[in-house]
Amino acid sequence: MKVLVTGGGGYIGSVLIPMLLEGGYKVKCLDRFFFGEETLADVAGDPNLEIIKDDIRWFDPKILQDVDAVMDLAALSNDPSGELDPSKTIEINYKGRVRVANLAKKYGVSKYILASSCSVYGFQDEIVNEKSQTNPLTTYAKANLSAENEVLPLADDSFCVTVLRQATVYGLSPRMRFDLAINGMVLGFYKNRKIPIMRDGTQWRPFVHVKDTSRAFIMVLDSDPSTVNKEIFNVGSNDQNLQILPLAKLIAEAIDLPFEFEWYGSPDKRSYRVDFTKIERVLGFKLKYTPRKGAREVYDALVEGKITDSIKTRTVEWYKYLLEAHKIIKDVEMRGAIL
Ligand SMILES: NC(=O)c1ccc[n+]([C@@H]2O[C@H](COP(=O)([O-])OP(=O)(O)OC[C@H]3O[C@@H](n4cnc5c(N)ncnc54)[C@H](O)[C@@H]3O)[C@@H](O)[C@H]2O)c1
Repeated sequence: MKVLVTGGGGYIGSVLIPMLLEGGYKVKCLDRFFFGEETLADVAGDPNLEIIKDDIRWFDPKILQDVDAVMDLAALSNDPSGELDPSKTIEINYKGRVRVANLAKKYGVSKYILASSCSVYGFQDEIVNEKSQTNPLTTYAKANLSAENEVLPLADDSFCVTVLRQATVYGLSPRMRFDLAINGMVLGFYKNRKIPIMRDGTQWRPFVHVKDTSRAFIMVLDSDPSTVNKEIFNVGSNDQNLQILPLAKLIAEAIDLPFEFEWYGSPDKRSYRVDFTKIERVLGFKLKYTPRKGAREVYDALVEGKITDSIKTRTVEWYKYLLEAHKIIKDVEMRGAIL
């Protein structure tokens, strides 16, 4: 079976692709590689992996001819990046992914999985499940929801469409992200012995390890279409809905350092607790990792010098840099690295 992973050079994709290859799948990775091609260095020579450096907005659809399934991960991947240039966020995260889904159907691909986000729930008082009213607060969340709303109706007996609303991801990846809550807290602890906490720490957020969320994509891939077609699944676990301040304490414990913290930012408007019963009931999906274990692995990797916090690990700063470079640099050769 051949799987096309868009955004496969990213934080999740560069963990997911080696897992697919280990599972015996053939993989095509379609990515602009905004964070560099080195994220796939460990698997780059694998005969079962084809790397295509192109954009989901204008790639040649012929690459879909021999593809059985698509995992659509390409996106400007968080709320602040989505606000840098909202029209580009809509172009990529919404229209670009709808284009991928439509072309996949046209070219006879049998399964399409959209990487969406629990951020579509926005601020909510109640615990939310897949049937709850959504409340997208940002361009990023709105683009995810618009993409969901347009790809799900494409589902039919020969084109299976599944939406995965992932919790906030944590853990090690070849394209490290320190703009994600748990990873960022660990970095703060490592650098300043203080955990940075966005005010006021009472906000709820669901979490999932990068290897666990990658496994969810593979479980959907392996599932009979009758169980996943036209379905939305929240990806995470009921026991990994955490409030930010207690989470920070738990991270200090996991790293075995005294708990010190500092506030940053204005109060976070997003707060949501998510029900993950459906994915466990329907797919038997259970998490293997905990924030404690994830925090420890990130901390150890920092101490051992295996990862650093270069500008590329802070998604919004890196995209800002690329957008500014686009204004300044006219050199045609540079266009490949530009939004
Ligand atoms: N990491 C999380 O906590 C999280 C949570 C929920 C949902 N998601 C979603 O999962 C997906 C993957 O997230 P991630 O954390 O790996 O993000 P990431 O930023 O690390 O990876 C996204 C990848 O998409 C590529 N890309 C961006 N625009 C492109 C375009 N127009 N054409 C081709 N490639 C393009 C980038 O080069 C990058 O490699 C995204 O859709 C994201 O919104 C992530």
